[in-house]
Amino acid sequence: MKLIFLGPPGAGKGTQAERVIQSLGIPQISTGEILRRAIKEQTETGRRAQSYIESGALVPDEIVLALVEERLQSPDCANGYLLDGFPRTIKQAEALDNIARMDAVVNIQVPDEVIVERLSGRRVCAACGHTTHVSIAKDGICPVCGKPLTQRKDDEASTVRNRLTTYAQQTRPLIEYYEKQGLLLSVDGCLPMEEVTAQILSKLRERQG
Ligand code: AP5
Repeated sequence: MKLIFLGPPGAGKGTQAERVIQSLGIPQISTGEILRRAIKEQTETGRRAQSYIESGALVPDEIVLALVEERLQSPDCANGYLLDGFPRTIKQAEALDNIARMDAVVNIQVPDEVIVERLSGRRVCAACGHTTHVSIAKDGICPVCGKPLTQRKDDEASTVRNRLTTYAQQTRPLIEYYEKQGLLLSVDGCLPMEEVTAQILSKLRERQG
């Protein structure tokens, strides 16, 4: 199965992807994660992407497309994949249309006021990559691997506002783009995490018939 998870920053794309791939047995491909790793390792791509990410802008299409095209050639993508945070512009979506036909696009809907609260409390494990929230991991320790949790640089309030504007201008038009292709499945991202996962899996099963 080839899937896209669409939604504003903080909608829960990463959280849901982590859960859904366990049921579907496909890899999660997060362009945000690939870019953050490149920045950490200070590769040429990382150096080019850093200022865009830290200001809440999108990384230029040609950089992201090159990363995705390379990643999709890996053997683990042979039976499908879940794209988390890609595509994010019409140009990226058109390029993807030329690479593969998607089975479904899951649109996780969450209003802006909920997003700001979620992102200010988000914590990420630098060791295993697990994402959680301060309201869950109160002791600052990763519930999966026991290592200390960290905060993402782009979760600062002013950067979050820029990311929301960027989403509205450049990514939201993809909802209509995929609706027209008959691929869009919308879920309520404000429900508890387990219920969002159940909704996604049930809509995917319905789609598969
Ligand atoms: P990326 O890493 O993709 O960030 P994003 O899309 O802004 O999404 P987030 O990771 O912030 O949120 P999420 O929806 O995954 O939510 P999460 O599950 O963490 O991209 C970062 C940057 O990289 C971009 O700004 C851009 O610069 C660049 N980039 C990436 N891809 C690109 C592309 N294709 N083109 C160009 N540039 C690109 O959840 C958030 C919080 O909410 C967590 O604390 C979680 O525990 C909590 N939460 C989740 N679900 C629930 C729930 N149901 N109830 C309560 N709390 C919940």
